[in-house]
Amino acid sequence: MSKKLGPVLQVRMGNRRIVVANTYDSVRELWIKNQSALISRPMLYTFHNVVSTSQGFTIGTSPWDESCKQRRKAAATALNRPAVQSYMPIVDLEAMEAISMILQDSNKGENSINIIPHLQRYALNTSLTLNYGCRISTKNDNLLKEIVETESEISKFRSTSNNWQDYVPLLRLIPAKTNKAVYYREKRDSYLGRMLEDLKAEIANGTDKPCITGNVLKDPDTKLNEAEIKSICLTMVSAGLDTVPATLIMGLGYLSSPHGQQIQQKAFDEITKVYPEGDVWGKCLLEEKIPYVTALYKETLRFFTVIRVCLPRKSIKDITYGGAVIPAGTLFYMNALAADYDETHFDEPDKFIPERYLGDSDVGTPHYAYGAGSRMCAGSHLGNRELYTMFVRLILSFQILPPSNPADQAATDAWNADSCPTALVAVPKDFKCRFLPRDEKKIHYWLSKSADRTRHL
Ligand code: HEM
Repeated sequence: MSKKLGPVLQVRMGNRRIVVANTYDSVRELWIKNQSALISRPMLYTFHNVVSTSQGFTIGTSPWDESCKQRRKAAATALNRPAVQSYMPIVDLEAMEAISMILQDSNKGENSINIIPHLQRYALNTSLTLNYGCRISTKNDNLLKEIVETESEISKFRSTSNNWQDYVPLLRLIPAKTNKAVYYREKRDSYLGRMLEDLKAEIANGTDKPCITGNVLKDPDTKLNEAEIKSICLTMVSAGLDTVPATLIMGLGYLSSPHGQQIQQKAFDEITKVYPEGDVWGKCLLEEKIPYVTALYKETLRFFTVIRVCLPRKSIKDITYGGAVIPAGTLFYMNALAADYDETHFDEPDKFIPERYLGDSDVGTPHYAYGAGSRMCAGSHLGNRELYTMFVRLILSFQILPPSNPADQAATDAWNADSCPTALVAVPKDFKCRFLPRDEKKIHYWLSKSADRTRHL
C-alpha cells in the first residue's frame, strides 16, 4: 500500500490541507525526528463542538496547551510501569472472569462461540476499576452493552474519514449527524456522571477502593480542576475500551486459523519451557519472560494496527521535509496501517510472523499501532500487559480451534477482519471459534487461585 501511495501525500479535505505519511521512514522523520513540532492536535467540528461540549476533550483529542500538558503528565504518572504493576490484580480478576465465561460457554470445546462480549468486558472493567474503583458484574449485561455501544458510536465521530462536516462547514447545516452526536453525548454524560458521583459518595463515606480518580480527587496538591479531572476519567475509560479488545479479538481470530494452530503450539511450548513448574498463570502478572508471547502480541499489534489512521496532529512549528517547508498549523495524518505494512522495513509484511520480533532489542519503534513521538499512546505499557496476560492464559488453558461451521471462521487479514473501515478504531467482524480445554481440572484450579487473590476487589 505504501508503495502505491508514496512516502508522503498532500491532500485537501474540504478547506483543510493535510499531510499524510504512508511509510515507516516518513513517519519516523515527521513524528519522531520532528516530535516537538508535531505535539498538538487539531480541533475537529463534530468531535470537539458537538460530542465533547460537556465532559471536555480526552487527552488524545486535546490541542497542546498548559492544561493538556498537566493532564498528560497526570495520566503518564498513573500509567507508568510501577503504577501499572499495582493494577495487575485488576487484570488478574478480569482475565479470570473472561476465561471462566469462555470455559463455560465453550462446553469442552463442543460449542463454537463468539468471544467478543467477554473480551469487551475484560477491557471495560479493567478501565472502570482502574478509574472509578467499580466494575460491571457479569449479571449487568445491559450497562456493559450501553457503554460499549455508546463509546463505539462516539469513536465513529472521531473518525478522520467519516465526518465530512469537519472539513466542509456547509455540511454542518444538515442536522442528522449532529443530532446523533448529541444523543450519544447525553448517554455518555449520564453513565460517567453516575460513576463519578458514586465514587465521591464512597470517598465521603470512607468506603472507596483505591483508583486513579480517587487518588486525584483526594490529592490536596492537585492542580487539576473539575473539568480536567473529568477529561482524565473520560480518557481512561475510552482509551483502552475498543483498542485492547479489537487487538485481542483479531489476534485470537488469527490463532483459530490453520496457520494459527502452529503459532499456538509454538507459544504453548515456549510457555512450558520457561515455566516447567506450571506456575505461569500467576507469574505472568509479575513478569514478562516469554519472548515468543511478547513477539506474538507485537505482531498482532502490527498486523491489525487497529487505529489505522492515527489520531491527527497539528504542527506548531514549520517543518522542513524533502527540501520543502511545511508551514506551522498544517494537519498531519499518519497512515499507520500502510506504514506497518511497508515492505522496505518489514519482510513479507502481509504475513503474520511473530518471529520477526524475536531478538528485537527494542531499538526503534517496533510498529506504529501505538502511534509515535511526543503524543504517542500513554497507555501502551498497560495495553501490552493486558495483551500478554490474556495470550498467556488463553493459550495455556485452551487449544483455540476453528468453528464447526466454516462460514463462521475469522478473517485472517487486517482489511477483512474489520467491519467498519471508516471508524477511528477497527471494529472486529463477528466470527466464532472453539476453545478446547487442555486440562479442565487445572483451569478450575488456576481460576480458584485468582478468585482467592482478588476477593477484596
Ligand atoms: C492495544 C491497545 C491500545 C492501542 C492500540 C492504542 C493506540 C493509541 C494511539 C494510536 C494513540 C495516538 C498516538 C499518536 O498520536 O501518536 C493513542 C493515544 C493515547 N492512548 Fe492509547 N492505545 C491503546 C491502549 C490504551 C490504554 C489502555 C490507555 C489508558 C488507559 C491509553 C491511553 C492513551 C492516551 C492517554 C492517549 C493520548 C496521548 C496524547 O494525546 O498525548 N491507550 N493510543
